[in-house]
Amino acid sequence: MKKNLQITIPELPTGKLTESHFNLVEDVIPSPAKGQVLLKNIILSIDAANRAWMQGTTYRKAIEPGDVMHGYSICQVEEPNGSHFKKGDFVFAEIGWQQYGAVNTHEITSCPDHKPLSHLLSVLGIAGKTAHHGLIQVGKVKEGETLLVSGAAGSVGNLVGQFGKLKGAKVIGIAGGKEKCDWLVDEVGFDACLDYKAGKLGKAIAQTCSGGIDVYFDNVGGNILQSALFNMNQHGRIVCCGAVSLYDGQPLAGPMGIPGLLVVKRLRMEGFIVFDFPDKDAEAENEIKTWIDRGQIKIYEDIIHGLSEAPKALVGLLRGENRGKRMIQVTKI
Ligand SMILES: NC(=O)c1ccc[n+]([C@@H]2O[C@H](COP(=O)([O-])OP(=O)(O)OC[C@H]3O[C@@H](n4cnc5c(N)ncnc54)[C@H](OP(=O)(O)O)[C@@H]3O)[C@@H](O)[C@H]2O)c1
Repeated sequence: MKKNLQITIPELPTGKLTESHFNLVEDVIPSPAKGQVLLKNIILSIDAANRAWMQGTTYRKAIEPGDVMHGYSICQVEEPNGSHFKKGDFVFAEIGWQQYGAVNTHEITSCPDHKPLSHLLSVLGIAGKTAHHGLIQVGKVKEGETLLVSGAAGSVGNLVGQFGKLKGAKVIGIAGGKEKCDWLVDEVGFDACLDYKAGKLGKAIAQTCSGGIDVYFDNVGGNILQSALFNMNQHGRIVCCGAVSLYDGQPLAGPMGIPGLLVVKRLRMEGFIVFDFPDKDAEAENEIKTWIDRGQIKIYEDIIHGLSEAPKALVGLLRGENRGKRMIQVTKI
């Protein structure tokens, strides 16, 4: 009999996440109850936020010890169970780290018709919309401005940089290591990139952004946010997208200078969640599609095969292994 491979998290980490925090188990494939459909997991998104969900309630419910690890996927309908879905339909669902899941029909949405499917999790999915909404709706980036983005080689960051260039900004990235920084400049098209692991980041920002920063797109928080804050121009905007430098057991850090610097430089610092702009989703999607059709965007996907690789993939992402959007191909189609 076919089994359901699952990855559970028996105890939540207090320090750094390791592969040993997860268990690979087998369960029976569930039967969908009334109002549910049975889904097969096709591509699972691996996100920095997966680690933040282990820290307590955020914009969504926290992961509890013993849970099947939470996660967002593209799935295929296996048993429509009398619903309006058809067997084989592709849908988005929070099925978690398992091969099969029974999910309430009102909690799933149909995927648009697009190939390859992986783009619906990367450039046309949450990563692309986060980058677009953050940059346009929150950062209000303008032609000729200087845009600084941290986590620049990651899934959201590389798109923020590319979208920023298309909007006419001068784009400076921050990433870990010389190799990643060289890649961002030589291959992705950033104007410059600073290696935060090399130290003296504040000085490097001041030298590279000699005219100051107009928009800082912050994916990491902590000391990097601190360094950016001191280099902001008057009326600059700080887009708070995430704080990955503080997700994985690190002590909470700064920044200093709040509210003093916000007052003196008339800065706006604003957090957002990608779901905050439903009325702008179509606009973002259309613009991104146009850029793709014109060949103006390079799409970086980092696809790993097999559900059992998910723990390693998440631990690796938090260590900075990935370039672009990391995903797990759970089932070949
Ligand atoms: N607001 C929203 O709606 C929304 C939606 C999606 C994602 N996010 C946020 O966006 C950020 C990026 O998420 P993602 O899923 O796209 O991950 P990602 O950027 O693809 O990967 C995470 C990257 O973070 C960097 N990193 C890890 N530890 C770091 C540290 N201590 N200091 C600086 N950089 C560090 C690593 O690159 P290096 O090699 O450069 O260190 C790693 O590759 C996260 O903060 C996430 O929570 C927010």
